[in-house]
Amino acid sequence: MPEVIVTTRSGEQQAIPFTPGTTLMQAITEGGIYELQALCGGVCSCATCHVHIDAGHSAELPTVSEDEDGLLAGSEHRSERSRLSCQIRLTDALDGLRVTIAAEDE
Ligand code: FES
Repeated sequence: MPEVIVTTRSGEQQAIPFTPGTTLMQAITEGGIYELQALCGGVCSCATCHVHIDAGHSAELPTVSEDEDGLLAGSEHRSERSRLSCQIRLTDALDGLRVTIAAEDE
């Protein structure tokens, strides 16, 4: 089964298996990491599923939509590697993707 490697806010790393077709947000929360609030349930309207994606899989990631970009713009922890994890649908090509949960906005 493909997996993503998630680094939590405390720096712990965990490999989480995923079923292709689920979103990165679902994989992380269903994998037992509860740091993402994902308050809107994955409809791109809250930004509480913010993660930083490590380099290496950029070509396989979906492009950032205008809505996602707008929400990320409001985060004090945005970087060039920021994404909303609910907007990334996982595929086999993303096996081994490494992500870090972004710090929570105040
Ligand atoms: S869960 Fe709300 S924007 Fe991703």
